[in-house]
Amino acid sequence: MAKPGYTTDAHPRILEGNDLKALAKYMKSDSCRNVFLMLGAGVSTSAGIPDFRSPGTGLYANLARLKLPFPEAVFEIGFFKKNPIPFYTLAKELYPGRFRPTPTHSFITLLHSHSLLHTCFTQNIDTLERRAGVPAQKIVEAHGSFATQRCIECKTPFDAEKIKKAVLSDEIEIPRCEQKRCRGLVKPDIVFFGEGLPDQFHQSIRNLRDADLLIVLGTSLTVHPFASLVDRVPKDCPRVLINLDEVGHFNKPNDMLFLGKCDDVVRELCKELGWEEELGAAWEKTKYSLEAGEEEPEPEPEETVEDEVEKITKDLEQTLNVSDKKDEEGPSAKSKASDLVELGSDEEGKTSPAESPTEGKL
Ligand code: OAD
Repeated sequence: MAKPGYTTDAHPRILEGNDLKALAKYMKSDSCRNVFLMLGAGVSTSAGIPDFRSPGTGLYANLARLKLPFPEAVFEIGFFKKNPIPFYTLAKELYPGRFRPTPTHSFITLLHSHSLLHTCFTQNIDTLERRAGVPAQKIVEAHGSFATQRCIECKTPFDAEKIKKAVLSDEIEIPRCEQKRCRGLVKPDIVFFGEGLPDQFHQSIRNLRDADLLIVLGTSLTVHPFASLVDRVPKDCPRVLINLDEVGHFNKPNDMLFLGKCDDVVRELCKELGWEEELGAAWEKTKYSLEAGEEEPEPEPEETVEDEVEKITKDLEQTLNVSDKKDEEGPSAKSKASDLVELGSDEEGKTSPAESPTEGKL
């Protein structure tokens, strides 16, 4: 819902420059009431979680050397049905609890406490937005998350503690549905290529017409329909890209580009907003966001993304060697990422996952 007592005529959406100072001034003005965010994996790399497509450290580049038919197969529903082991190996590494939210996640909580945050659309499945303290009702997990899980056949929800135990056990156990005569595979409610996006995503898109500011952080904007949200805001709505490299088409008069690490840019922006101390305090609190008994976060996050991706790749390599036979039953070794483009729409008529090397569709 747009905030009451507000018309764009009374408060034109005009930026007085294209630097962080101008952005901060706009954010503090009456014109800026409803801030929308679009997040991608780059927001969590400083927590030690690899992104997907960065050359060298990205998950897909590293999975390419394994015996998967194509790197994205780990998140492909057809492949999962035939061989769930690679996904569960990865899930063990990425399972929520081990990672601390980043300063960028804490920045989102400040947007909320300053009554600016309307909706945080995220592609990330790591649940770090929630862990940082962003209220659940402000988050749209467009590609799902590890928060819930169900049988892929009969859709019966599966117990959270049981899946956690299965995923984190020393020997990977593949959880199976407990319904009589089903025994289907259980999968966290992460959207795979070949599945529709959550209803909440589709229902929330219309709210973007109330946006006074869109901030896009840490995403390559290659996977649709998520990437197309950038075009759903009003024509005069300022759009800001904070990313390591230039992506998408941010070339309208009110667009701004800040190329760099999102934590660095966000810190600078907080300085301009006068929120520097608040950001420090909010991030400090996330130290204690780990649940009792969970591992401590890695101390040197900048270096750990390489270590993390190496560990993930090694673990997957091991399980794939063990499961060579199962691989043979899987999709043809000739399959490529581009095959996913043909997956098309799901039975509900929603857009469904498909991906080519340059452009993806979910
Ligand atoms: P990508 O890996 O495609 O893109 C991450 C982007 O973040 C790249 O443009 C990086 O340059 C940038 N980046 C990395 N570290 C950064 C940092 N510290 N600061 C700023 N930018 C940084 O990840 P996504 O766009 O999130 O879907 O990928 C979209 C979807 O593709 C994912 O949700 C996943 C994947 O297939 C599913 O698994 C269903």
